[in-house]
Amino acid sequence: MGISLDGLRDKNLMQLKKLNLALFPVRYNDKYYADALSSGEFTKLAYYSDICVGAIACRLEKMEGGSVRAYIMTLGVLAPYRGLGIGTKLLNHVMELSAKQNISEIYLHVQTNNDDAIAFYKKFGFEIAETIQNYYTNISPPDCYVVSKLLPVSSAKK
Ligand code: ACO
Repeated sequence: MGISLDGLRDKNLMQLKKLNLALFPVRYNDKYYADALSSGEFTKLAYYSDICVGAIACRLEKMEGGSVRAYIMTLGVLAPYRGLGIGTKLLNHVMELSAKQNISEIYLHVQTNNDDAIAFYKKFGFEIAETIQNYYTNISPPDCYVVSKLLPVSSAKK
């Protein structure tokens, strides 16, 4: 069965909203969706056959000095479709795109009890950089890790 990725547009924005409702205990605001739409290829919906079953949504952040960071706002796959390589395909897509676009770092926040997600990111070379107490207001535990992967940045323009 084929897994394919598709870009985010106004027309399929509702798919991402439905996925987030099913996957995350957090409600995302209009800024989240505006950031996802303006991140271009850095936000993707994943289809298993013709069913939308997962997504990665990023925000690009310009840093002082000109470098750019990619922040993974959400990455999720519906439970019945986990373990099929869909999360890997979504994360690999963002890592490859980041390398091509000379992004210096990819980072994200993850709840400290989310062992599956922490193990998943570590497998791809991400590391826990920091713990933030009381990052979340409505979920328990309220603490998160900042999980990050630094990418080699070349000064030469390709
Ligand atoms: N369930 C959970 N994890 C599994 C399963 C399964 N049934 N099967 C395998 N895995 C583990 C394995 O370690 C696997 O590696 P392997 O294939 O080399 O053994 C690894 O997960 C990767 O498997 P994939 O199939 O590529 O990943 P998947 O599509 O299951 O997605 C994800 C991983 C996104 C973390 C998923 O578990 C998920 O949606 N979790 C709930 C949402 C979530 O917590 N997202 C991250 C929060 S942080 C953030 O969004 C920024």
